[in-house]
Amino acid sequence: MKILVTGGAGYIGSHVVKALGEKGATVLVYDDLSKGHRDAVLYGELVVGDLADQALLARTLRAFKPDAVMHFAAFIAVGESVREPVKYYCNNTANTLNLLRGMLENGINKFIFSSTAAVYGSPGKALITETEPLKPINPYGHSKVFVEKALEDMSASQGLRYVSLRYFNAAGADPEARIGERHQPETHLIPLALKTAKGERKSLEIYGADYPTPDGTCLRDYIHVDDLAEAHLISLDHLSGRGKSEVFNCGYGHGYSVREVIDTARKVTGKDFTVENIQRRPGDSPVLVADSSRLKKALNWNPKYDDLEYIIKTAWEWEKKQ
Ligand code: UFG
Repeated sequence: MKILVTGGAGYIGSHVVKALGEKGATVLVYDDLSKGHRDAVLYGELVVGDLADQALLARTLRAFKPDAVMHFAAFIAVGESVREPVKYYCNNTANTLNLLRGMLENGINKFIFSSTAAVYGSPGKALITETEPLKPINPYGHSKVFVEKALEDMSASQGLRYVSLRYFNAAGADPEARIGERHQPETHLIPLALKTAKGERKSLEIYGADYPTPDGTCLRDYIHVDDLAEAHLISLDHLSGRGKSEVFNCGYGHGYSVREVIDTARKVTGKDFTVENIQRRPGDSPVLVADSSRLKKALNWNPKYDDLEYIIKTAWEWEKKQ
C-alpha cells in the first residue's frame, strides 16, 4: 500500500506514520514543517510543501500515485481560530478542497480525514454519538464541518470513499518516547501541565472554574495517540476492502476535568506545581466525551491505552527528553 500522509510530521500524523511504517506500508509525508518536525517522520520520505501550493501537490500526487490519502495537515488551536478565523478557513477548508480535487483528478478515491469533536459544539450530553447535530461553537469546528459536508457530497456522486475520524482529545506519546507532542506555541493542557512540572513555566492557568461540571472545570475525553493511530489503520483496511464511507468518533467514553488532569500530572511527575484560575477561554465547550461504540462495532476498534495515568506517563517521558 502507498499512502500519502499530509501533516505526517505533526503530532498525530507522525504517530500514524509510525504505525503505517511498522505495518510495512510505503509512506510519503507531505508537510510544510510550519508546525511539524522533520525528525518526527520515522518512516518513509518527506516532501516539504505547502498544501496551498497546488502545482507541487499535483506533481506529488501524479508521481507517487498513492492508494489512499490521510489528511492531518491543519491548524488545531480553538482559541486562535476565534481570533483569526480566515487562517482556519483557508488552511483547514480551502486547502483540503484543493487536495480532494487533486485526488479526484488523479483517480485516487480513498481518503481518511482528521475531523474533531469540535464539530459538535456544546451538545450538553454525557456521551456524544455521531448522529448528534453538528453545531460548532468556534471557527475551528466550522472549518472541519465544511469539509465533512463536501466529503458527504463527493462520496454520493464522485466516487470518493472516505472515513472521517472525529478526534476527541489526542494525548500521550510513543511509549518509547521517540515522538510526542511538540506544538509551538503549546496550547494543550497536558503538555502545558508537564512543562510547568518541569519548571519551564511558572504556573498553569485553568481557563474557567465556573463551568456547570462537578468541579467547575471542563471535561474532555483524552485518548492515547497510538489508539488513535490504530483507528486510522483499521479505517484504511475498511476502505481497502471496499467499505463504504463512514464517520466515527474516537475517544474512550469517559471525561476527565482539567483539575483531574492536573492532579494526575502531579502524581505522575511527583512535582507539585502552581495552578491559577483565570477566565474562560472563548470557544471552549464545557463537556466533550465520545460515544465510540460505532467504531468499536463497525471496525472492531480495540483501544489499548485507556488509562489517564499511563497516557500522562508516556507524555512525561517524552517531555523530559525535550
Ligand atoms: N486548558 C486549561 N489551561 C490550559 C490549557 C487548556 O485550563 O493552559 C483547558 C481548556 O480550557 C480545555 C481543556 O483544558 O477545557 C483541554 O484543552 P486543550 O487545549 O488541551 O484541548 P481542547 O479541548 O481545546 O482541544 C482539543 C484539540 C482540538 C479538538 C478538541 C476536541 O486541540 O483540536 O480537543 O475535544 F477539537
